[in-house]
Amino acid sequence: MQASDGTDVDARIAELLDQETFAPPEEFAANALLSDPGVYAEAERDPAGWWARQAEDLDWFERWDTVLDDSEAPFYKWFEGGKLNASHNCLDRHVEAGRGDKVAFHWRGEEGEERDVTYAELLADVKRLANALRDRGIEPGDVVGIYLPMIPEVVVAMLACARIGAPHNVVFGGFAPESVRERMEFSEAKALITVDGARRKGKTAPVKAAVDGFLDSLPAIETVVVVRNAGDEAPMTDGRDVFYDEALAAADPECAAVALDAEHPLFVLYTSGSTAKPKGILHTTGGYLTGVAYTHRALFDLQPDEDVYFCSADVGWITGHSYIVYGPLANGATSVMYEGAPDYPDKDIWWELCERYGVTLFYTAPTAIRACMKWGVEYPRRHDLSKLRLLGTVGEPINPKAWVWYHVVIGGERCPIIDTWWQTETGHVLISPIPGITATKPGSATRPLPGIDAAVVDRDGNELEDGTGLLILRRPWPGMLRTLYKDPERFKETYFSKFGPTTYFVGDAARRDEDGCIWVIGRVDDVINVSGHRLSTAEVESALVSHPRVAEAAAIGQADDDTGQSICVFVTLEGDQDGDDDLVAELREHVATRIGKLARPKRIVWADDLPKTRSGKIMRRLLRDIAEGRELGDVTTLRDPSVMAELESKVASRRDDADA
Ligand code: PRX
Repeated sequence: MQASDGTDVDARIAELLDQETFAPPEEFAANALLSDPGVYAEAERDPAGWWARQAEDLDWFERWDTVLDDSEAPFYKWFEGGKLNASHNCLDRHVEAGRGDKVAFHWRGEEGEERDVTYAELLADVKRLANALRDRGIEPGDVVGIYLPMIPEVVVAMLACARIGAPHNVVFGGFAPESVRERMEFSEAKALITVDGARRKGKTAPVKAAVDGFLDSLPAIETVVVVRNAGDEAPMTDGRDVFYDEALAAADPECAAVALDAEHPLFVLYTSGSTAKPKGILHTTGGYLTGVAYTHRALFDLQPDEDVYFCSADVGWITGHSYIVYGPLANGATSVMYEGAPDYPDKDIWWELCERYGVTLFYTAPTAIRACMKWGVEYPRRHDLSKLRLLGTVGEPINPKAWVWYHVVIGGERCPIIDTWWQTETGHVLISPIPGITATKPGSATRPLPGIDAAVVDRDGNELEDGTGLLILRRPWPGMLRTLYKDPERFKETYFSKFGPTTYFVGDAARRDEDGCIWVIGRVDDVINVSGHRLSTAEVESALVSHPRVAEAAAIGQADDDTGQSICVFVTLEGDQDGDDDLVAELREHVATRIGKLARPKRIVWADDLPKTRSGKIMRRLLRDIAEGRELGDVTTLRDPSVMAELESKVASRRDDADA
C-alpha cells in the first residue's frame, strides 16, 4: 500500500516515527483562523477579560456585570448578572440570521438511511418538545433524563430542556438499565426521554421494556416520552408515557427561549470517580457555552460556511455534549452524525461518510484509531478523503505509532492533528495544540490553551519545569464544573483539597518536557480508562460482589494495546469453591447487566485472598504489578505478604497456558 508520496505506508510510518515535532502544515497555517502566537500573551495579561471577549460572540439577552466572581472559591461564578439561553444560541440566532435552511446534521442510520436536519427543523421540533415538557409540569430546575441512541431526537431533547431551563441528564445508550435507574434516582429526575428500541449492528434492543423494569421504583418520574425508532411495540403506561411524535403534534409550535441566568444549570452528567457512586458533574450555561463555542471554533479552525465536521463520539459522553451538540451548534456548523458502530455495516463506514458528505474536520479517540490500524489501510483507501484538512483526538493518551498512522493514512500528511486533553469536569478542551500555531509532538497534547494555567507538580505541590508529576490547574476557566450535583462537600474534597482551595486537582499524572509540552500519562486515582471511557474500580467491584458466589473483588486497569487500558479483576469466591470458565462467562455477563458491556472485565483471576494493608485496604498497585508481569513494588505494608507469592504463581501459570 502506498503513502501519499508514493512510498510504502509502513516504511513511511517507520520514517516519521523518528520525527520529534511536526510544524503546522504551511498551507493550513497560511489560512488558519488563529496564526498569531501572541494570543497566549494577550490572554495571560488579563485572563478574565480575555474570556469575556470570547463570551461576546454569544447572543446575550442581558450582558453580565461581573466576568468572574471568585469570592466563594472554589464555587466560582462566571458572567454573573448575564442572561442567555443555550438553545437560542444554538438555533434561533442562526435561523434569525437567515441560515435556517443550513444543514445542522447529516444523519446516517445503521441501515444506510439518510436524513438532513436543518437548523430551522431542529428549532421547530425543539420548541414543540419544550412545550410538551412544560405541559407535563416540567419547570426550570427540574432534571430531565435522556436515554437515547445516536439519532437527531437526542439533540432536540437536550436543546428542548435547555430552552426551558430544565437541566438534562443524558445517560450513554450503552449503559445497562440499572445504571440508568441509579442516575435518574441520584439526580431526582422528573421525566425521561427514551426510545422504543435501539439498533446495534443489525439487531434491536427493546429499550422501553427494559426501562419499564425500573420505572415503578422511581415515582418521581411522572412523564416518559418515547421516540419511535426501531418500530418495536413499546409497552406504554397511560397517563405517564407518551410517544414523542404525538407529544410534538399536540404541542404549541411557539415557545420563546427563557432568559436564564448565566449560572443556571445546563446539565448534569454522571462520570466515574473513585467510589462506586458516580459523580454528577454539574455544568452551567454562560461559561460552559463560551468555552465550548470558543474552543470548537479555535481548535477545529472552523469556517462554518465551508467545513463539514464529524465527531465520532456518542452524545452520552462529555465529548458528545460539548463537541457534537453545544459547540458545533453554537457556531452554526454542519456536522455528520452516525447512528451505528465504527465497523457496521463494514469497517469503512466512517470513511464512506467522510467521502459522502465531504468531511473536512474529523475528531475521534485513540482507541478507534488503533482499531482502524488493526483493520488495515484498505478500508480508508476505499474512499476519497482528500477534503479532510484537520484531525483531532480525545479521551486518552495517543501512542506515537497510532498518531503517525492517523497522520499518514487518514490525514494524507497534510492535516494537522490536535490532541485535545480535557475531562467531563473541565467542560471543554484545556490543553491542545492550536493548529495554525503549535508544532505538535506525537503523544503530547502540547500546551495549555490561552488563559489556562496548567502545571505539573510533585506531591508537595512544587512545580516541575521538566519532569513527571501530577497535573493541576491553578486558575478557574469558564466551562469548569460548578459542583457535584447535590454534593458540594464531595466536590471540594475531590478537586480542591489536595493543593488548596483554589487549585484544581486533575487526577492525572503528566510529564512536562523541556519545551513546556505536557504529556498526559493517565489517571492516578482508582479510575480505569477503557477505550477513552471512564470507569471506577469501585463500581466494577461492587457489581461483582453483588453476585452470590463472589466474596470479594479487586479491579485494576491493566495496560492494553487495543483499548489503552482493560479491566482485570481479582476475585475471591464464597466458601472453598474454585472458579471455572463458566463462572468467568457468568461474572462478565453479570457486570454487563449491572453497568453495561463496556465494564465487562477482560480478565478474571481467581484469588484465595487479596493483598491488603494492615488496615484492610486492597493494594491495587501490587495487583497491577502482578497483572502486567512487573517486579513487585514495596510489599512491606502488607498484612500477609505470602498472598502475593500465591497470586503471582497463578497469574504466571495462566500466562504460560496462554503462550502454549
Ligand atoms: O486521564 C485523562 C483522559 O481522560 C480523562 C477524562 O475522562 P472523561 O472525563 O471521560 O473525558 C474524556 C473526554 C474528554 C482525563 O483525566 N484524557 C482525556 N483526553 C486526553 C486524556 N489523556 C491523554 N490525552 C488526552 N488528549
